[in-house]
Amino acid sequence: MPNTGRFITFEGGEGAGKSTNVQMLKEALEDCGKTVVATREPGGSLGAEEIRKLLVDGSVDRWDAMTEALLHFAARRDHAERVIRPALARGDWVISDRFVDSTMAYQGYGHGLGREPIEILHSLAIGDLRPDLTILLDLAVEAGLGRAGARGDDESRYERMADGFHQRLRDGFLDIAGREPARCVVIDAACELAAVQADIRAAVSDRLAVSLP
Ligand code: TMP
Repeated sequence: MPNTGRFITFEGGEGAGKSTNVQMLKEALEDCGKTVVATREPGGSLGAEEIRKLLVDGSVDRWDAMTEALLHFAARRDHAERVIRPALARGDWVISDRFVDSTMAYQGYGHGLGREPIEILHSLAIGDLRPDLTILLDLAVEAGLGRAGARGDDESRYERMADGFHQRLRDGFLDIAGREPARCVVIDAACELAAVQADIRAAVSDRLAVSLP
């Protein structure tokens, strides 16, 4: 089999444990001999990290929904062109903490822009780049916001949005996963970390024909 790269994304609401699990999966894949690029959105390239600062900090209403979606896509295009596509072309495996499903869930469902504008923006800005596998870490809103609040970082703009917003995006993520079962795996992030990590390794092994212990 040719040494083709694979693109895996982690998705979920606030405090679902994505960054811990991105790191775990990166190490597990490296133990299997893969070269892995772990990255994140918004961010992951120099320009996109600059745009990230505009999105995660400041007043909740500093952007209207469409401006916010455009900023996420501006960041994503830079990230895709400069980091994700070159890594996949080298045959590396790419794991991204968030990708387009976050824009669909947060701006499409959460802010109410709807699915179609996000699909159109994706196709204009990003074209055909889609994950091979998306792991959705699903967690009740209250539990997630509790974990995220305990982290106490400065990047709290989305955490400060209303509970109704967070419920819409959780439902949105589940709807996205239900529409694309071949790409998406939903994992219960309320379980013990060891069980969540075992589920993730099993999903990657099953779906991407790699044997993770
Ligand atoms: P993070 O906390 O997972 O690093 O993500 C930063 C915030 O950005 C998080 O609250 C979710 C939000 N976000 C969107 O609203 N739309 C997007 O497209 C992405 C990638 C993130």
